Amino acid sequence: MSVAQLVRLSHEQIKPKIGSRVLNTKDELLSGALSGAINELLEARGVLVFEQLNLTDEEQVRFSNSLGGNATEIGVDGGAVFSISLDAKEHSREVIEYLKGSLFWHIDGTMNPVPVRGSILTSKVLPTWGGNTEFANCYAAYDDLPADTRAEIDDLRVIHAMWVSQLYHCPEPTLEQLEDWQSKGSAELPLVWHHKSGRKSLVLGNTAQHVVGKTAEESARILHGLREHATKEPYHYAHEWEVGDSVMWDNTGTLHRAMPYDPDCGRLLRRTILLGEEYFS
Ligand SMILES: [Fe+2]
Repeated sequence: MSVAQLVRLSHEQIKPKIGSRVLNTKDELLSGALSGAINELLEARGVLVFEQLNLTDEEQVRFSNSLGGNATEIGVDGGAVFSISLDAKEHSREVIEYLKGSLFWHIDGTMNPVPVRGSILTSKVLPTWGGNTEFANCYAAYDDLPADTRAEIDDLRVIHAMWVSQLYHCPEPTLEQLEDWQSKGSAELPLVWHHKSGRKSLVLGNTAQHVVGKTAEESARILHGLREHATKEPYHYAHEWEVGDSVMWDNTGTLHRAMPYDPDCGRLLRRTILLGEEYFS
C-alpha cells in the first residue's frame, strides 16, 4: 500500500452548523489522495479553513485542480488566479467598483446557469483594519426553518440581477452606469435549490431582486427575512485572516461577504475557483 493511500483527512469542527478546520500537511493536501474526502467535507460543512498553509499561486492552482478543476477567472487575462483587492495597482476602477459588491451577502455566479462550485482564498497582505470574510450555511438555515415556512417557499422563484447588487454600494448611479450594469442581464432562480443530492439550500444574496408573483413589499419581507435568518447564529462564521491562511467555501450552499476595510491598505487575497457542475434547480 502506498503512503498516499494511508493518508486520512484530519479535521475538527469550528462551529456545529458551519465550518471545519483541516489539519493535514500541505504535502498531504497536494498529493490528491484526499480530494474526494475534502469535497465531501466541503459540502457537509460549507467552509473549510486551512490555517497557515502558505500556498504559492502554483500550489493553489494545483490544489484547486485536484478538487475538480479551477475555472478560468472571467476577464482576468485568462489566468487561473484572481487578486481580491481594492488597490488601484491591482485592478481598473471598473473592477474595483464591481468588487465592492462583495461587501454584501451574496452567492458568486447567480447570472450563470451553473455557478462555480466553490472558491479558495489565500491571504497575502492583511488589512490595517476590518476585512474579515464571513460565511453563512444556507443548507442548515433551510433545514431549521419551520415546516410550514419550508412548504410556503419551496417552489418560489426569484429574479436576480447584477445591477441590483451594485445599488447596495452605489445607490445613486448615473443612467449610463445603470444601463451598463443592466446589460449584464438577469436570471430567474429557485428560492430553494433542490440539489441532486436530495438536500435543499436557500438561494439569496444581493443579486436577489424580487419574488415572482409577490408584491414588492411581500417580496422584500421574504428575501430580507430569510437573509437575516440565514446569516445569524448558528449558521454564521467570520474568518479573521492571518497571512498564509487559505479558506475554501461551498458556493452552492453558502452566502459570503467581505467586511469593510481600508481600501488603500493593500489587503490582498488570491482566489482560485472550482468549476461548477450543478444547475440551479
Ligand atoms: Fe464573492
